[in-house]
Amino acid sequence: MMQNILSYQSAFTDYLEGYASPKEPENLYSPIHYILQLGGKRLRPVLTLMTAEIFGIDYNKALDAALSIEVFHNFSLVHDDIMDDAPLRRGQQTVHEKWDLNTGILSGDAMLIMAYQLFENYNPITFQALAKLFSKTALEVCEGQQYDVDFETRDDVTIPEYLKMIEYKTAVLVGAAMKMGAIVAETSEENQNNIYQFGRLLGIAFQLQDDYLDAFGDPETFGKQVGGDIIENKKTYLYLKALAFLDKKDRIQLEQLFSVQLDDNSDKIETVKQYFITSGSAKATQDAIKEYTEEAFKVLDTLSIADDKKSLLKTFGTSLMTRSV
Ligand code: IPE
Ligand code: IPE
Ligand code: MG
Ligand code: MG
Ligand code: MG
Repeated sequence: MMQNILSYQSAFTDYLEGYASPKEPENLYSPIHYILQLGGKRLRPVLTLMTAEIFGIDYNKALDAALSIEVFHNFSLVHDDIMDDAPLRRGQQTVHEKWDLNTGILSGDAMLIMAYQLFENYNPITFQALAKLFSKTALEVCEGQQYDVDFETRDDVTIPEYLKMIEYKTAVLVGAAMKMGAIVAETSEENQNNIYQFGRLLGIAFQLQDDYLDAFGDPETFGKQVGGDIIENKKTYLYLKALAFLDKKDRIQLEQLFSVQLDDNSDKIETVKQYFITSGSAKATQDAIKEYTEEAFKVLDTLSIADDKKSLLKTFGTSLMTRSV
């Protein structure tokens, strides 16, 4: 019997509870406990568990892989929030705000090791396959994060460069989350690679949506600082498409707004959001989210799994498109 998404989520949360118990030194482990129990959508671990079951095993066998992915993801958020100077995460203070910069750095480092350590619970062959995928993916995430930061101070970023950046910083981890489920299930290499492609395309749509919500999310429910990408001059799809669509006068105005760091950003955020709407770039971003989700669904045809399992993946992908956090 296939589980529904909520029951994967609760199975995962139960497992996580037994794992992240605070120990000494407190200033190393409390922030780890804090960020892991703050919640979040648990998207990646749910995908790991779901994929394991889709390829025919008891999802409980994939819990350590799912936990590894979530611990790595949370590590990347702790460091990302430092790099993005972000005050809020999941509606609460970020780790470096609640503690300090050094705490965020070291607790993050420890989480990266902990993520690796969880593979020790698998047999040597599975361990090696998981570790190999993890190393490749984690390095790509670093590369994506560096591009993201480099682009803040560049004024010639192209759409293909942006797409590569989000593929690396975000999409490959979604692909890897699913491939890990497939590896634990010991399915064929072809299935492993196809499910990775499905996750990767879904991950691109996911980051486009993240960028959209960063500007247009509801501050009451979004859980992060709305407009944070605008404050940081992030070269998002919204921004790059706006430049492409605007006439020269407005384009220069928008570029000018993205070449400065201000103390008070409220006017900048409002003006930039208006440009995103009036230029058509908000709409273009919504269209791109749909397109990448559809591309992901096409990959499902190549998978040798039953139709009800494909429907489950489709339902999940569709639900991501309408998310508000
Ligand atoms: C945030 O990821 C970082 C991105 C890659 C966009 P999520 O939106 O999955 O964050 P949580 O885990 O649900 O808080
Ligand atoms: C995050 O991208 C990607 C990683 C954490 C690797 P963002 O910087 O857009 O994520 P949020 O919006 O802070 O969650
Ligand atoms: Mg960020
Ligand atoms: Mg970032
Ligand atoms: Mg974001």
